[in-house]
Amino acid sequence: MLFFVDTANLDHIREAQDLGILDGVTTNPSLMAKEGISGEKNILNHYKEICKIVGDGKDVSAEVIAVDFKGMVEEGQKLAALHENIVVKVPMIKEGIKAISYFTEQGIKTNCTLVFSAGQAILASKAGATYLSPFIGRVDDITWDGIGLIKEIYEIYDQIGSETAILAASIRNPLHIVQAAKAGADVVTCPLNAILGLLNHPLTDQGLQKFLEDHQKANA
Ligand code: G3P
Repeated sequence: MLFFVDTANLDHIREAQDLGILDGVTTNPSLMAKEGISGEKNILNHYKEICKIVGDGKDVSAEVIAVDFKGMVEEGQKLAALHENIVVKVPMIKEGIKAISYFTEQGIKTNCTLVFSAGQAILASKAGATYLSPFIGRVDDITWDGIGLIKEIYEIYDQIGSETAILAASIRNPLHIVQAAKAGADVVTCPLNAILGLLNHPLTDQGLQKFLEDHQKANA
């Protein structure tokens, strides 16, 4: 399973990269705005900076703002030309499906975002999306079952032999990561604190403290 970090914060991306476990980055317009990145030039430069930090061969999702086919294609082509790591992120709407089909024909990687149902997942796969982003946290937010959705999509993709990778998104905590892995996600994209949360166990801390104390006693 691949690990992506879901942020536009360069320090968080660097920290995840330094751990040596980072396979890619996802961003969205809200995450870019959170970092105060605005204006086309600054946005494009920020994507280039992210690509530089993670190095070659790691996918970086950059989302289009346009919601019409022509606009999505123009924006997507501009984004894809920035760096070979760029994956064009497209919303799950009718025009988005048209754009994903177009990008697939052009050999441009895509990430279909804002996915909340198995039906949407089937359509995105048919259009040739490289990645599918079901938002599990937001599904949980409305007391539905985000992980259940990942399981359902996994089953369907297995059945139809889909080549689209399931990218579990809107992950809020370490348990989501473990559950997404069990449910068959190909990729998890997580805020840095959810990744770091995987480290935590009180028995590890207690055990390490005891090892160090015993070593000190024996070597006093
Ligand atoms: O990957 C999608 C993600 O950024 C949305 O997360 O927490 O805003 O639902 P959240």
